[in-house]
Amino acid sequence: MDKQNGIRHILFQHEVIPVVTFSTFDQIEHTVNQLLKREIKCIEITLRNEVSRKAVSLVSEKYGHQISVGVGTVINLDDIQFCELNNVDFIVSPGSPSYLLKYLNNTSIPFLPGVSTINDIMNAMEYGCDTLKFFPAELSGGVNMLKQFNGLFNRIKFCPTGGVNEFNYQDYLSLENVISVGGSWIIKEKK
Ligand code: 3PG
Repeated sequence: MDKQNGIRHILFQHEVIPVVTFSTFDQIEHTVNQLLKREIKCIEITLRNEVSRKAVSLVSEKYGHQISVGVGTVINLDDIQFCELNNVDFIVSPGSPSYLLKYLNNTSIPFLPGVSTINDIMNAMEYGCDTLKFFPAELSGGVNMLKQFNGLFNRIKFCPTGGVNEFNYQDYLSLENVISVGGSWIIKEKK
């Protein structure tokens, strides 16, 4: 297994990853059912409020066999241990400080660390990472910045999120170094 426990393979299976921050309990099952109806079999649930952890537990317990459950906004060891206890499918972090990469290198869950600069990428590479979240993508230079990254580090592949939407996601997906994209716009779309 590669250093990131197969995260690249997961991204290849899911071209668009809905990033969801649940703020009430009653929307959880409805949202997951909407995704499943649209044949979107992946969700990233962020850890950003008091509902988050219960949402992760519920979705992985009840829908884990139908949908790949990722946990986002993972920022410390406690969050990683929570993910391990809940057998989630992948971990996403907004940044990649060395302390977090050290913890992540000890988990068996696939993980996707966030970067927004050349220094971040070089630091993540030092820890053996080659598949990264580019966040916040639009604010950090968007498509043009990713082209620049490809010129410098053509081994590194990205999942841009943050400001990606229905108007620009195809531009991102057309890039050589982009495997998939993530964002909150996906569950707002009508279908
Ligand atoms: C996030 O972490 O908030 C996601 O990347 C979603 O960003 P978006 O709301 O701009 O899609």
